[in-house]
Amino acid sequence: MSVILVIDDEKLQRDILRTILEDEGFETHTASSAEEGLEIIKKIRPDVVLTDLKMEGMDGIELIDSLPEEPFKPTTIVMTAFGTISSAVDAIKKGAFDYLTKPLDKELLLVTIKRAAERAILQKENLRLQKDLYGKFSFEGIVGHSQKMVEAIEVVKKVCSSNVNVLILGESGTGKELIARAIHYNSPRKTKPFVAVNCAAIPENLIESELFGHEPGSFTGATSRSIGLFESANNGTIFLDEIGDLPALTQSKILRVLQDKEIRRVGSRDSIKINVRIISATNKDLEKEIINKTFREDLFYRLKVITINLPPLRERKEDIPDLVSFFIKKYNREFGKRINGIDDNAMKAIIEYHWPGNIRQLESVIERAVIMCETRNISLKDIKSELRFIQGSGILDIDLPDEGINFDELEKELLKKAMEKANGVAAKAAKLLGMTYKTFWYRWEKLGSSSPKKEAVP
Ligand SMILES: Nc1ncnc2c1ncn2[C@@H]1O[C@H](COP(=O)(O)OP(=O)(O)OP(=O)(O)O)[C@@H](O)[C@H]1O
Ligand SMILES: [Mg+2]
Repeated sequence: MSVILVIDDEKLQRDILRTILEDEGFETHTASSAEEGLEIIKKIRPDVVLTDLKMEGMDGIELIDSLPEEPFKPTTIVMTAFGTISSAVDAIKKGAFDYLTKPLDKELLLVTIKRAAERAILQKENLRLQKDLYGKFSFEGIVGHSQKMVEAIEVVKKVCSSNVNVLILGESGTGKELIARAIHYNSPRKTKPFVAVNCAAIPENLIESELFGHEPGSFTGATSRSIGLFESANNGTIFLDEIGDLPALTQSKILRVLQDKEIRRVGSRDSIKINVRIISATNKDLEKEIINKTFREDLFYRLKVITINLPPLRERKEDIPDLVSFFIKKYNREFGKRINGIDDNAMKAIIEYHWPGNIRQLESVIERAVIMCETRNISLKDIKSELRFIQGSGILDIDLPDEGINFDELEKELLKKAMEKANGVAAKAAKLLGMTYKTFWYRWEKLGSSSPKKEAVP
């Protein structure tokens, strides 16, 4: 049931309104002045306030100015004498929901109150959803206490409140989009749009019209006006993902947008002022692309006012246990399961793996494991099929004997194979096996492998 507060300095009017509204089932309170009204608003947090405009002391407009901020701001309807509609218009400009002229028409009064009550409910629901959303992209949703991750998050926190363009670098699946959203949803632009664009996924001939919009008839197939992604993101943030894949022509157009802060729809002569923050991301080495002349240097410097480097998961394995529990909880909730954790052998296998697909890949392994697991603990058998699949690099395509495998022999084989593949360059072979150069030589010599001779440390 919605709660209504009626503010009017005429007692008779208050009493009539109370009766009408209570008959309709609204919980109704009354106040005889704006000052008293504000006190009551603080205490009972009404959904709707129906207030007279002209009152002794504080008037209705001043009352609107003094209302509490969201989420406690009530939806307000003002009542005004016929002939003073201009003050009702002022009230609307200040944020009132609607106005009614006196003498009041009962039907219109009830319809207006019901609409206002519905809006108040929607507003509350929206705020709740927004809160959930911010929660989802809050810093608690970014797991990781490794030094590298802590450093990255420190930078993220610092850039939130500013407007600077941010470039996020990292391999696939390291959390670039998660970070971009965290920046937006913790910035003053958080109530404005966040528009994510995958630059690599838009066909080259459509990219300009997708980004900047087009006018009807500007090219074959453009039958109606279309608003581009930059315009949709106005006052908010645009996330240009896979920026390294932008064609040269589009790069220069984006550079122009950054310089002039305006866009022009394809086929239009007029420019439109826009205010967007650009967060871009790539897993490419842009500096190399600049040398190869496939990425514009001037655009690069505009985009990377601040750079955030997200380390690959294999360089921050200490984050794995926390990530695993985080994803178990997430998928417990999603699939209604009650898995407590993961046993030691399974954790060991997960930590040993090198995760080329980074966190995205770890997340999907845990998701599958949560589905497969029939006990309270994920064990090796729940992830075995996944890990075997992902670990199948081909290097160990051997038939295991029924018993008695000689590990030293196996390792020797592996080192030799790596050396062969690396054409005898030990540093390369070490890299192939994910070992340091030193470790490689230590094992190579320990296992008594013959030549090649140790080379100079590169
Ligand atoms: N630090 C983290 N804590 C929790 N979840 C994370 C973290 N980093 C990434 N994730 C999750 O991993 C998945 C992949 O992250 P995201 O999409 O942000 O990566 P990306 O770098 O944009 O990947 P791609 O390059 O493949 O687009 C998402 O589901 C994301 O929520
Ligand atoms: Mg991404």
